[in-house]
Amino acid sequence: MPSDDPVDRSASPSVDETVDPPPAFVEQANVADESVYDEFAADWPDCWARAGDLLDWDREYDAVLGGEGPPFRWFDGGELNASYNCLDRHVESGRKNQVALTWEGRLGESRTYSYLELYREVNEFAAALRDLGVEEDDVVTLYLPMIPELPIAMLACARIGAPHSVVFAGFSADALATRMDDADSEYLVTCDGYYRRGAPVHQKSKADNAAIGLDHDVTTVVVDRLGDGTPLTDGEHDYDQLVGTHRGATVEPVSRAATDQLFLIYTSGTTGEPTGVRHTTGGYLAHVAWTARSVLDVKPADTYWCSADIGWITGHSYTVYAPLALGTTTMLYEGTPDYPEKDRVWELIERNAVDVFYTAPTAIRAFMKWGEKHPDRHDLSSLRLLGTVGEPINPRAWKWYHEHIGNGECPVVDTWWQTETGGMMVTTLPGVDRMKPGAAGRPLPGIGAEVVDGDGEPVDPGESGYLVLTDPWPGMPLSMVQDEDWFAARGSTRPSLDRFDWAYFTEDGATVDDDGYVTLLGRVDDVLNVSGHRFGTTEIESAIADVDGVAEAAVVAGPHDLKGEAVYAYVSLADGADRAEIRTLVDEAVEAAIGPIAVPDVVVFTPDLPKTRSGKVMRRLLESVARGEDLGDTSALRNPEVVGELESTLDDD
Ligand code: WT7
Repeated sequence: MPSDDPVDRSASPSVDETVDPPPAFVEQANVADESVYDEFAADWPDCWARAGDLLDWDREYDAVLGGEGPPFRWFDGGELNASYNCLDRHVESGRKNQVALTWEGRLGESRTYSYLELYREVNEFAAALRDLGVEEDDVVTLYLPMIPELPIAMLACARIGAPHSVVFAGFSADALATRMDDADSEYLVTCDGYYRRGAPVHQKSKADNAAIGLDHDVTTVVVDRLGDGTPLTDGEHDYDQLVGTHRGATVEPVSRAATDQLFLIYTSGTTGEPTGVRHTTGGYLAHVAWTARSVLDVKPADTYWCSADIGWITGHSYTVYAPLALGTTTMLYEGTPDYPEKDRVWELIERNAVDVFYTAPTAIRAFMKWGEKHPDRHDLSSLRLLGTVGEPINPRAWKWYHEHIGNGECPVVDTWWQTETGGMMVTTLPGVDRMKPGAAGRPLPGIGAEVVDGDGEPVDPGESGYLVLTDPWPGMPLSMVQDEDWFAARGSTRPSLDRFDWAYFTEDGATVDDDGYVTLLGRVDDVLNVSGHRFGTTEIESAIADVDGVAEAAVVAGPHDLKGEAVYAYVSLADGADRAEIRTLVDEAVEAAIGPIAVPDVVVFTPDLPKTRSGKVMRRLLESVARGEDLGDTSALRNPEVVGELESTLDDD
């Protein structure tokens, strides 16, 4: 690849080392036979019946994959209900008293729901939603922190065939309004407030502000999380009262076609607006259940903890839907990992005897920094498997996790996937594959992935290229299933995919080694990955550019020890604007437009942004400045004099 290729941004981590799966693990693994790869390859796409067969269908599917594609119809002709698959069938098969959900609250409280209890509460809330007027295919927005009412509301929606749109509780009123508006969502479930690091967050007032911005009425249900009663106005309902008036109600689960929408989730792309990704009922549920079983080795008797917030896809797939579909005990934690002490996570794992723990590299790097004395104080011997997701994990963090949390006895699976894929795509099967710290692994059985160059040709081992998915997969989103151009419309640095009948460009750079193991190198589009969460640079830029006194802004990824990537904002000011004042306004504007999580870590004021002769901002150069790299030849710039200034400003910051 040419040296200015955007993929070529970092050297591959060393992945020469391999770690064998521990024999004791292999012996009990759900999937332990290497033949699974060949079997899937020989029988594609029918191999995916193994995933479909993990579910109960109201009507059996006629074909595993229908349609010459696109559109692709996974489990064509099949009908099912996701809430039935996550609840009723376990209640009916003798697991009614097993714990489905165990919740650890922010204030030290805990609550558990058996499958029967969860089934009842979901039914009651589903009945209440119906009473409020929610009909099949109405979008219900859920704006809640990590409390049991969130998965309950998701499953209640699924039960009546109303797609949910969960909006991360930390997002701002504006971000909520944009998403409700885009989805034409007239129903909202939120709460009065919650505590975050000791300070109350007034969720309801954010929801109120969002509603003001909408041009349709909203029916709102409010959970009293703060426990001090919630004053309600017209069109607002108290969650407990609603459920109370529907005690004992049951709602027949609505049969949905496999290709009917289960939910909608917004994610950031290169456009200024978040994109709604719509996932299917059958393909999605089968994909996440199968991967949780084969990769996370989840078993019904386990206590399983995925620490991701349900506001992101990881929480949807692997905190709620997959574990409940498999009939295990899923744990929900409302708090932060360092409160009240930095051993909180290990204390929870010990107390709940957690078998499988799935978290993000950003958390692992924080645990490392806090030191092994925290995990060392706890008995973590219940753990059988560890997983990571969301961003590349550097070999040092991988090894720390493996050694200090897993005591060298738990496989570590580094799972690569995206909001768009719904479930895991590239990783290792822990009962089969050797692990390579730093490399995610091979495409899972039945998944087609290649690393290609700009012409769409496979790169040689060790060369960097673009990761593309070459075959459809069950968890592919409805948007992609239905609309051939959905991804093409996003535009960006993309390889030519003419060689394939169909392929999806992931927007990730990668290398592949001789064994077919893929190492991810980060996004090649203008999307930042901050603590495993995705933000479009344009979204942040437009918030900053709206500030009075700002002439122009460009946002790029800079390095960050813990968060993986930091938000670096380069801002040029209008004449006479005051830097300190603008800095505060910039933070406030980003917090209001998106949320505190996207607020820039570094703001660099510059008289001008570096531009090409055609007037395009040179982002790659700004990224190099942020990383303190050599800037090389800057003669293509219209205003090369700005470069020296930028470098010196950053030194002062
Ligand atoms: C982007 C997707 C997968 C759910 C959470 C994030 C990055 C994700 C890995 C991994 C390296 C990873 C990619 C991807 N990513 N997992 N194991 N190794 N990078 O979902 O918000 O849709 O972000 O996260 O860059 O494109 P998302």
